[in-house]
Amino acid sequence: MAPSQSSIVSRPRYHHLLAAIVLLAAGCAAPATDLPPRAAQSFPDGWRFPAGTLQPAAATNAMITSDNRIATEAGLEILRQGGNAVDAAVATGFALAVAYPEAGNLGGGGYMVIRMADGRTAAIDYREVAPLAASRDMYLDENGELTDRSVVGYLASGVPGAVAGMAAALERYGSMSLEQVMAPAIRLAEDGFVVDSALHRSVSNDSALIARFAGASVFLPDGHPPAVGSRLTQPALARTLRAIAEGGADAFYDGWPADSLAADMARNGGIITKEDMGRYEPAWREPVRTDYRGYSLISMPPSSSGGVTIAETLNILEPHGDLPAPGSAAYISLLAAAYQRAFMDRNEKLADPDFVQVPIEELTSKEYGERLYSTITPERWTATPDVARTIREGMETTNYAVVDSMGNAVATTTTINSLYGSGVYISAVGIFMNNEMDDFAAQPGKPNQFGLVQGEANAVQPGKRMLSAMSPTIVLDPSGELLLVVGSRGGPRIITGTSQIILNVIAHRMSLADAFGAPRVHHQALPDVLVHEEGGLAPEVATALREMGLELSVGSNGLPNGIMRVDGGWHGMVDPRGDGGGLAAGY
Ligand code: DON
Repeated sequence: MAPSQSSIVSRPRYHHLLAAIVLLAAGCAAPATDLPPRAAQSFPDGWRFPAGTLQPAAATNAMITSDNRIATEAGLEILRQGGNAVDAAVATGFALAVAYPEAGNLGGGGYMVIRMADGRTAAIDYREVAPLAASRDMYLDENGELTDRSVVGYLASGVPGAVAGMAAALERYGSMSLEQVMAPAIRLAEDGFVVDSALHRSVSNDSALIARFAGASVFLPDGHPPAVGSRLTQPALARTLRAIAEGGADAFYDGWPADSLAADMARNGGIITKEDMGRYEPAWREPVRTDYRGYSLISMPPSSSGGVTIAETLNILEPHGDLPAPGSAAYISLLAAAYQRAFMDRNEKLADPDFVQVPIEELTSKEYGERLYSTITPERWTATPDVARTIREGMETTNYAVVDSMGNAVATTTTINSLYGSGVYISAVGIFMNNEMDDFAAQPGKPNQFGLVQGEANAVQPGKRMLSAMSPTIVLDPSGELLLVVGSRGGPRIITGTSQIILNVIAHRMSLADAFGAPRVHHQALPDVLVHEEGGLAPEVATALREMGLELSVGSNGLPNGIMRVDGGWHGMVDPRGDGGGLAAGY
């Protein structure tokens, strides 16, 4: 692996100690500043999660949330051993790669936003990159038509970044060794874990894809998903994990796992080579920072669009002052118009900053937000192409969040894109490969699998990171204390889902449980449609929105999880819309 910044800087560890002493002196794990009262809510009649009915996990010292119970428990084990939030996050990431194969991964990539209790912040980008042999039109057939090769099979993968990213984050901000934090994952792969109904269902749902490639021997023994209650071991993955624990990320990128991966690719028409693996480097980046009504957001910059698009959305909303009531036609149309404008910029202007000049400062400035706010007409929906004229005049992923007893916080989102990625499983390494190449504009101007219509800036180029929507975000309250750690899965709905949790907490003063239970909406500029959840809009609100000119359709809206500070500790929530396999837990 090429040298990363992480090998150059090693931060002194006494910051943790100092912070711990300060907090112990205060006699309380969570900072004890006044928290604004939460407001009682009412959601539409018949909505599946009535206001005030969901229960968060509650803990005094530390909290962790993820989409998988076993992975949450792995992180909690590390926290209880005295590990900090970064140690626990990395432990959770490796455990997800074993116990949550639909999205946890070594064969994909992700992003981690960190805020240490002493105020240091960091963002690490371990997004996949396009292989050196990739080219702009590689997914078009001889007639210039887009094929499905960016989605399924050996050509769909970018060079994986997860191992390098997690190792670099641990080295710079963790307090434990890779061997320590990977111990739970190695145990889970070697000794196995008990298959629950969520994993059984997930493998069943995607059995056709899995059966096309070598993962069938592990996940479809005898042609069927492992039975609920059976024990699933993954010896090949265990060997890979041991190699990483002993030899660091280099053992993966320069050692036998890279040889096996490159050989498998070469045998099957893939283009990732040993050289691609050896060149992979994660990137430390300056987090996107923005303020909204006195609260500070720390989020992921490009190559993810998440932080910039959320910041731009909130800046468009801020000039409005107090927002209309949640669930009202006035609120939903305003929110949709803000998303529409922010996604138009996202889809056209955002891309890998190492390849494209991205105007982050302009897009996240208050002046720009005000200008876009002034183009919104409250009574009438403006179609996306008309907004474009006005402005120019001037499936599958997983999030996890950790807060430790010292107040260090980590928000991470990681993905292989679709559930089980490209379907390709590298048997010798024990990993599913991502199909992240589909996040590029495989044919600029044509929709990808999420319906996103993106431009030339995000076209395929060798060595380039494909634009992401992942939005791991940390929010500080007006006194500068940690308030919220949140992120989501769901493609472009990550951005809208995460930002609605943030708005629900900050602007609508919901409890964390209500913030997650509240109905959500989604708009991504094109298609020019407001997606709402079944039962999530009161009938008269739907009528009013249609009368304004909005086209409505029913769909799902992301799957966030997160942690909020409350008096005396922390609340944790996984989205109640999930498969029941996630867990928020603390101590
Ligand atoms: O990076 C992105 O934006 C996508 N690859 C995320 C995919 C995703 O969230 C699918 N999960 N439901």
